[in-house]
Amino acid sequence: MADKPFLTDIKTLRERARRHIEKGAVTEGYKADRETAVKLLNEALATEIVCVLRYKRHYYMATGIHSEAVAAEFLQHANEEQGHADEIAARIVQLGGAPNLNPDGLSSRSYAEYVEGETLLDMIKEDLVAERIAIDSYRDMINYFGNDDPTSRRMLEGILAVEEEHADDLVSMLGELGN
Ligand SMILES: [Fe+2]
Ligand SMILES: [Fe+2]
Repeated sequence: MADKPFLTDIKTLRERARRHIEKGAVTEGYKADRETAVKLLNEALATEIVCVLRYKRHYYMATGIHSEAVAAEFLQHANEEQGHADEIAARIVQLGGAPNLNPDGLSSRSYAEYVEGETLLDMIKEDLVAERIAIDSYRDMINYFGNDDPTSRRMLEGILAVEEEHADDLVSMLGELGN
């Protein structure tokens, strides 16, 4: 097989890098639409924060015979969602955007919903629904970023894998509770 040609010659790469250095990580070779990328990542950020708040609520409100193990799981998920929010916010800044942390409109920017749930079982089901929404929305975003923004894509792939684990944990919990 013939060697793949190097995509941009070194001289051009060096010249391009010197222009607009204030844009930091966003170079002329950045292929995604930056505004759309920031908008999508802000929606992901809102989703993660809503998930933190919902899991925290569930953590504090979990009662009943099975509550201890389930509450521990809720807390772990809350902390992992917070980690995702932090990763996403940092990426937004790298792309020259600003993380939208305004509580006004938070739940409408989020894909997942904030549902309190009455019983432990309701809480687990609502969390599972929210994870499934997050999984599908991340899959769409991953397709959007594709090779145009591989850094955002890889970040979201990592997050997606954790959301799938969360969904799996929740299904196991449902099974243990006899549903
Ligand atoms: Fe998450
Ligand atoms: Fe999750």
